[in-house]
Amino acid sequence: MEEKSAAIDIEIKLFLEAIYLKSGYDFREYAPESVKRRILRRLAFSGFENISAMQHRVLNDNHFLELLLQDFSINVTQMFRDASFYKALRKSVLPVLKEKPFIKIWHAGCSTGEEVYSMAILLKEKDLYENSRIYATDSNIDVIHKAKKGIYSLDRIKEYTAGYQRAGGKGSFADYYTASYDMAIMNNNLKKNIIFSDHNLVTDFSFGEMDLIMCRNVMIYFSMELQNKVISLFLTSLKKGGFLCLGAKETIAFSSYSEYFENFMKKEKIFMKK
Ligand SMILES: C[S@@+](CC[C@H](N)C(=O)[O-])C[C@H]1O[C@@H](n2cnc3c(N)ncnc32)[C@H](O)[C@@H]1O
Repeated sequence: MEEKSAAIDIEIKLFLEAIYLKSGYDFREYAPESVKRRILRRLAFSGFENISAMQHRVLNDNHFLELLLQDFSINVTQMFRDASFYKALRKSVLPVLKEKPFIKIWHAGCSTGEEVYSMAILLKEKDLYENSRIYATDSNIDVIHKAKKGIYSLDRIKEYTAGYQRAGGKGSFADYYTASYDMAIMNNNLKKNIIFSDHNLVTDFSFGEMDLIMCRNVMIYFSMELQNKVISLFLTSLKKGGFLCLGAKETIAFSSYSEYFENFMKKEKIFMKK
């Protein structure tokens, strides 16, 4: 029994190596129990005899690889995640964007949309919403459907309200949603200038002429090579003087394109295209 479990652990290591070499997605340092659970679930669904057989399929069938990446897709998100970052957006980035006749924002890897609605609220409060268009994308179509609906559990709204206030919100957060049973439905006037669509940063094309790109907590599991590819995509998608916002644990410092950006707010991981 123990021997079998040790063999499975070795197969999993090889499997993760195969995914990394094939796609650049790096789950090798990912919590072992969580990885094991996801891989064994996919194994049970797909009917392969063992992980090695499934590995052969991953290496030879891109569609199957996509399925696996979705299994690993971590969609954890929240509104006003890292309140100090949103405070910085409010205080230092939006005033720069205010000078523009029209503002284009891209949320790449927006998950279930909480980040997008947080941005919409900031834009509303700075009187910028009517002059803005927000593109919200993710490679996982299921989360995009949820994002479009903008329905969240009331349980979490308490936490989001605190985040909104910590991020400098002075109004009433309750004005932005309607409560129905145990859910909160984000208002339509926040949704009307948001376009939700599926888009894969690794395989799809760039979006043009953006003033601000948010790609937070998406590239953490990307190899350096993959990060480079995505950062180059952002570089071509941004206007000169446009902003790129990454997650707290992410940076462009080691990428081949870092010289094309300046640190606008280093601690908050806000970069500006030179
Ligand atoms: C942890 S969530 C981050 C959500 C949000 N940006 C935040 O910071 O709260 C990461 C999201 O990135 C998406 N993602 C992963 N790889 C992607 C890719 N290649 N293209 C687009 N989205 C991707 C996942 O589906 C997931 O929804």
